[in-house]
Amino acid sequence: MDGNGRWARRRFMPRFFGHKQGVDALVRTVQACADRGVEYLTVFAFSSENWKRPSEEVSGLMGLVLVAVSKYLAKLASQGVRIRIVGDRAQVSDKLREAWEQAESTTAHNTRITLCVAFNYGGRWDIVQACRRAMQDRVAPESLDEATLSRYMALSFAPDPDLFIRTGGEVRISNFLLWQVAYSELVFTDCLWPEFGEAQIDAAFAEYTRRDRRFGGVKPRSAEALQAP
Ligand code: IPE
Ligand code: MG
Repeated sequence: MDGNGRWARRRFMPRFFGHKQGVDALVRTVQACADRGVEYLTVFAFSSENWKRPSEEVSGLMGLVLVAVSKYLAKLASQGVRIRIVGDRAQVSDKLREAWEQAESTTAHNTRITLCVAFNYGGRWDIVQACRRAMQDRVAPESLDEATLSRYMALSFAPDPDLFIRTGGEVRISNFLLWQVAYSELVFTDCLWPEFGEAQIDAAFAEYTRRDRRFGGVKPRSAEALQAP
């Protein structure tokens, strides 16, 4: 969800205003995805590296999460959204941890769409914590395979993403889901996150349907090819 700061600056507003609008874009996106039958939506809300931002911005973002949970949790819960938080919870404040726990427990039985919020998350952090937990479980090196390690990843409960969308114009992954995007289709858009909504989702889905997913295999021979002499 990139581009909040630039969106605000273009309007001669403080960056925080962009983050606030970003929350509304997120709620809009969850609804639009649920309406389109998406079962899992994972968003990158705060990276392990975002602590490097000025402390006022970091505390503004933390406060915004608390406000967003109190403002939107009931609405999302009533719409059938199940919320899961992925990331390192050890470093966040008790208040924030409690808000996450409340969001997860209130929505635990919902089944329409699962919204995974990556917060204090990094793709490399995830791989390291998975290895660490596998070692704690004394998984033998010779029995550690991809399926086993997948079970220790923070998103083990969700399928790998079919589609990965980055807003804000940068063409990089920036330590988001490194393990899970091995075969995801990547879509990059210049749209700044606060402006993201139904039109951009439909455009990304249209782009996705044009992609030819082979997962390292070859394209199956078409009926015409079989008929050719
Ligand atoms: C939102 O966009 C990302 C968050 C960490 C919440 P940015 O804050 O990175 O916005 P830009 O890239 O400066 O425009
Ligand atoms: Mg950015």
